[in-house]
Amino acid sequence: MVARSLVVVLVATLGLVACPGSPVAEGEGEGEGEGEREPIDVGPAPSGYAETPPATAAGVACETGQWWTRGDRGTSLMHPGGDCIDCHEREDEGPTFSAAGTVHLAYDDETDCRGVPDVLVELIGPDDEVFYANETNSAGNFSTTTSLTGHTPYTVRLTYAGRTRSMTTPQTDGACMSCHTAEGKNDAPGRIVVP
Ligand code: HEC
Ligand code: HEC
Repeated sequence: MVARSLVVVLVATLGLVACPGSPVAEGEGEGEGEGEREPIDVGPAPSGYAETPPATAAGVACETGQWWTRGDRGTSLMHPGGDCIDCHEREDEGPTFSAAGTVHLAYDDETDCRGVPDVLVELIGPDDEVFYANETNSAGNFSTTTSLTGHTPYTVRLTYAGRTRSMTTPQTDGACMSCHTAEGKNDAPGRIVVP
């Protein structure tokens, strides 16, 4: 009796000690598209990015730890997470995109936090036609001026390292970031996040 419960206690203790520090447990038993993905290394900060948030940032949540620092200086790397279409319209400057946005590393990344490069973004029309397919740039941004006319409502498929993540709810507005804010508007789960 005594010996037996001693063994149980020993095993339990060893288990407790071994688990937390054990790196092997991470990522094990992963299903298709479920569970933890491998950490993603986005690489060094591109031009215009720094490793501290600018004074104008709404908060400090930023999984890549790299921030856009050049305000409204126009380039395809500008304001990741910002509502590209709304701002260009309001300020009557910059290209008139039909659809645009950013793919981030985390759901709560603040505006101006660098996203994830090389994520394939596909916009899919009502007849299952892929009418836009392009990879995110080094800021994680993507954009198109291709008219959405005839392609709405659309859905979205992201692909990265063989994994996919889809927006199955059809939308008509190409301003992704009008819904995909850090908090999430109109029932969106927060940012558009890499699969
Ligand atoms: C808060 C306002 C604002 C937001 C948000 C914004 N832009 Fe801009 N953008 C501007 C302004 C202003 C210009 C024109 C000024 C300039 O070219 O220097 C511009 C210009 C541009 C240009 C033209 C650059 C050139 O070579 O002429 C591109 C491309 C661009 N934006 C892409 C984007 C993308 C992609 C997003 C979203 C991920 C975005 N912008 C978000 C304000 C914004
Ligand atoms: C009018 C609001 C709205 C707009 C605009 C919008 N989305 Fe969404 N998005 C949602 C909602 C709501 C969901 C959650 C339901 C779902 O997954 O279909 C979602 C989910 C997603 C998901 C899956 C989220 C997850 O983590 O499972 C992706 C990816 C996505 N959207 C990408 C985009 C892209 C890219 C655009 C622009 C081309 C866009 N969305 C435009 C509202 C929007």
